[in-house]
Amino acid sequence: MKAETGHGARSRLFSSLIWISCLLPGMAAQAETVVIYGATGNIGSKIVTEALERGHDVIGVSRNLETLSVDHPNFTAVGGDVSSLESMLEIIEGADAIVISVRGYGPNNYPEETLNYRASKTFIAASRSLGEAAPRVIQLGGGSTLYSNGVLGLDARPGTEGTSQHGLVCGHWLALQNYRATTSVNWTVVSPSGQYDRDGPRTGIYRQGWDEVLVGADGRPGGISHRDAAAAVIDEIENPKSLKRRMTVGY
Ligand SMILES: NC(=O)c1ccc[n+]([C@@H]2O[C@H](COP(=O)([O-])OP(=O)(O)OC[C@H]3O[C@@H](n4cnc5c(N)ncnc54)[C@H](OP(=O)(O)O)[C@@H]3O)[C@@H](O)[C@H]2O)c1
Repeated sequence: MKAETGHGARSRLFSSLIWISCLLPGMAAQAETVVIYGATGNIGSKIVTEALERGHDVIGVSRNLETLSVDHPNFTAVGGDVSSLESMLEIIEGADAIVISVRGYGPNNYPEETLNYRASKTFIAASRSLGEAAPRVIQLGGGSTLYSNGVLGLDARPGTEGTSQHGLVCGHWLALQNYRATTSVNWTVVSPSGQYDRDGPRTGIYRQGWDEVLVGADGRPGGISHRDAAAAVIDEIENPKSLKRRMTVGY
């Protein structure tokens, strides 16, 4: 393979970190208690697996407890709704981190009613209520809220107002702005660069950046597997690099 040289290689190098995520079962540097909303979901279920394999204690949250069957001594299933402050306060007190990886759509396709936006409001209220004892939050975001050469994805591809896709991506944008407007909340939003690959392997090797889409040598967005995105979320919990900011991950 031809070695990459010149400005393209340099700019890719300095605008992102290459992260190698070692999977040492049961060998977390320090076991943390991680609450995961969306534990039955596509990505959330992989985050549960990753956290347990690294020796953390996991509290998985679902609205339907019978659908949450994870057989592991460090796993606890609880019932809860991410849009209920009362329920969230009961569940997250004493936890080190919470992950919000929930289905993004909402009624009427109004961005203000999407679950991601409402979840951000619930967590911010919970964090203010708990004060210094509040855990940090990592919320899964949307790729359209990233920039490509300074242009916001939402501006480049605004979509049609009133459609579910428009509501979804704008809801992710509102959630991100909601966190950005806080000062005391310990938040991170993780937006993927390119498409998630549902069935792709856990390679443990990915790039991490911040607000710009990560592109590969071919100039296309890198994408990432659900398993490597899950590794990135747990890496961020174990080694915070993006507190109070958004990060992106991709190959
Ligand atoms: N999949 C992708 O390729 C992709 C790409 C870009 C961004 N994202 C974003 O990543 C996030 C996760 O995506 P995903 O595909 O993993 O989602 P998903 O499979 O649709 O998972 C949805 C989860 O949300 C939970 N949920 C729904 N309503 C809830 C509520 N009121 N309270 C608590 N939990 C609730 C469900 O749990 P229960 O039914 O068990 O309660 C379910 O586990 C979304 O925000 C999505 O927009 C995904």
